[in-house]
Amino acid sequence: MGVLIVCESSFGNTRHIAEAIGAGLTKRGHHVALYPVESAPREIPDDVTLLLVGSPTHNMAMTTAATRAKAVAEGAPASPAIGIHEWIDMVTPRRALLVRTFDTRTTGAFLPSAARDAARALKSNGFHGAKTGESFQVDPRTTGLADGELQRAHEWGMALADLDPGATVTAPPPAV
Ligand SMILES: Cc1cc2nc3c(=O)[nH]c(=O)nc-3n(C[C@H](O)[C@H](O)[C@H](O)COP(=O)(O)O)c2cc1C
Repeated sequence: MGVLIVCESSFGNTRHIAEAIGAGLTKRGHHVALYPVESAPREIPDDVTLLLVGSPTHNMAMTTAATRAKAVAEGAPASPAIGIHEWIDMVTPRRALLVRTFDTRTTGAFLPSAARDAARALKSNGFHGAKTGESFQVDPRTTGLADGELQRAHEWGMALADLDPGATVTAPPPAV
């Protein structure tokens, strides 16, 4: 598979997770291109058969300009010029492309997160093969990744290598 990973990160954690996922896929023999959101392509190249979209969770959803500014006020070294939400609004959809989202967050799995928000936005913008993937835990005390999360991301990357890019969207019933 050709894999495109588009990732947003203010403090660096989501970027590290994206790299670990990419390394897992590379280990399984796939070609991976990882882009920060602000330089991600607006047209998905034809050879891409899996799109991964990662975002930090801000206010239980994808980031906004205001929450990115808040992250900088809280010490993030940089704020991307655009977030995943804005990129989803700009990218040309590919209906049958296999898409999985992921995020980082400090809260537990029972609360809404950026991955869920991104999968919904992708779907409603025409990526019918989009599904919510994994959330990875940031330790709120250290603001770094919780123990074991990089390893889990690497393993998830290896598991994604087994997805069938041809089985994303159910074919419509035959015309009668
Ligand atoms: C403005 C703001 C809002 C946040 N809201 C949430 C939230 O609703 N739920 C949560 O679990 N974490 C929340 N967080 C913590 C972020 O998810 C955490 O900073 C992020 O995962 C770090 O990713 P990054 O290093 O890639 O920027 C918030 C952080 C900021 C700065």
